[in-house]
Amino acid sequence: MSRTEPFEKEYELYDAWFDENQNVYESELLAVRRLLPTGGRIVEIGVGSGRFASRLGIAEGVEPAERIAALAEARGVRILRGCAECLPLGNETCDALLYVTTLCFVDDVDLTFHEASRVLKPGGCVVLAFIPKDSRFGTLYDRLKQEDAFYRDATFYTAKEVLAALEKAGLRLIEAVQTLTGPPETANQTVEAPSPGLDRGSFVVLRAGKAEKRSSRAR
Ligand SMILES: C[S@@+](CC[C@H](N)C(=O)[O-])C[C@H]1O[C@@H](n2cnc3c(N)ncnc32)[C@H](O)[C@@H]1O
Repeated sequence: MSRTEPFEKEYELYDAWFDENQNVYESELLAVRRLLPTGGRIVEIGVGSGRFASRLGIAEGVEPAERIAALAEARGVRILRGCAECLPLGNETCDALLYVTTLCFVDDVDLTFHEASRVLKPGGCVVLAFIPKDSRFGTLYDRLKQEDAFYRDATFYTAKEVLAALEKAGLRLIEAVQTLTGPPETANQTVEAPSPGLDRGSFVVLRAGKAEKRSSRAR
């Protein structure tokens, strides 16, 4: 089964999750907002129904699943059809790329970061939000995978694995924050402020940068 199929078929169910889990959603938004740059061209990859892009002022999103993309469009996000491994974006045209729980659905993580590096301007960055495989939510979702319409097809990664893949594409870690540090059963009771690090949260956000261009002028 294609990993986009649930987002074509059950897109309304996916989108409704945010209304039912408002405090979790707000905690996640706070963590992403902490590391997202403020200016320049920012594109969300795997934008889904646009819940993050629309709240964070991101005008453009790449999305392969047509039906969920229509919800993002209705929220004012311009959709570029495509996928993370073959971005419909030119070389060195973006200041930042945002990925929110998209990495666990892509077919090829190395190609995803290679593409990110291609479209980022020198000095640009990737902001990557994910559920670490060994976090409390990650362990739970992994265990319940077969019963979940969305996460059945997901591949979770540890923070260490994600960092290694970013490094391989020449994207260096700048900063990390985390949220949802408590048990999943109580996560929606309050909004949690992000804290530094990547070792305790079930929702980790990394900012990783592409190197600035070196001046070729000899002295
Ligand atoms: C869990 S949803 C996240 C959506 C949105 N970022 C959010 O946080 O609400 C994962 C999204 O990634 C998309 N997706 C699946 N495979 C993809 C790929 N290879 N490249 C880009 N997006 C992909 C799905 O269609 C879906 O919209």
